[in-house]
Amino acid sequence: MALFKYPVPEKLIDENGLRIDKRKYNELRPISFEVGVLPQCDGSAYIEMGGNKIIAGVFGPRKVQPRHLAHPNKCVIRALYRMATFSVEERKSPAPSRREVELSMVIRNSLEPAIFVEYYPKTLIDIVVQVLAADGGTRCASINAASLALADAGIALKDLVSAVAVGKVDGKIVLDLNDIEDKEGEADLPIAVMPQFNQFTLLQFDGNMTKEEFLNAINLGLEGIQIIYQKQQDAIRAKFAYEYSNSGELTEKNEREDE
Ligand code: CDP
Repeated sequence: MALFKYPVPEKLIDENGLRIDKRKYNELRPISFEVGVLPQCDGSAYIEMGGNKIIAGVFGPRKVQPRHLAHPNKCVIRALYRMATFSVEERKSPAPSRREVELSMVIRNSLEPAIFVEYYPKTLIDIVVQVLAADGGTRCASINAASLALADAGIALKDLVSAVAVGKVDGKIVLDLNDIEDKEGEADLPIAVMPQFNQFTLLQFDGNMTKEEFLNAINLGLEGIQIIYQKQQDAIRAKFAYEYSNSGELTEKNEREDE
């Protein structure tokens, strides 16, 4: 039985330097965000990044149950990453996999440095991520969405966290791996950064690269992260501009019209 249902092309980069989805080495996949999509959560966000469709919800800060888990000087942060059974080609078992447990921890650890945890002693913040469709780089897309969900919940943040995977495909360093590139490529390097401080909160590496390639990959990732960061900020502004214009208060436009 073939391991992949889709045909894996012989070359992942063609003679013109284009990838299988026609991107250049330094191009991100199309990316879009929507903030405040789940009414039952304190904060939420939805991301589409290439073929990834992921929703993140945040509950809290709220009381810790059981109480002995509470920390006297800071909030406890939990993250849960789950893939829907229909999110991948081979139906995923609904039982939590070891990979999901690991990625829950990776996402939690990538976001915690951005949160002013000491502002919320004895409380709990829950971050829940659901992957509806997966297309490579779901941990990074999840971090991008969950970071916006935290901001949407009004939690005090040092910065947003922006994430992308860089990798090596057919011997070339490329930005934002898709599913085939992730599975068939020679290296995968997911990074998450607080862009305002250029501070890394995640750096994982799987595969082979020379030192020079590694440094190129990091720089390429940082360029992509600047674009993602801008889009995240635009998504927050879009939500609050919409709320403000519907709040009955005068918008700048209305004020001008009234003059
Ligand atoms: O998603 P990410 O790259 O952060 O993590 P990964 O473990 O490297 O998974 C790479 C990709 O494999 C995922 O994004 C999915 O597209 C795919 N995958 C799959 O096809 N079946 C699974 N059970 C898990 C992942």
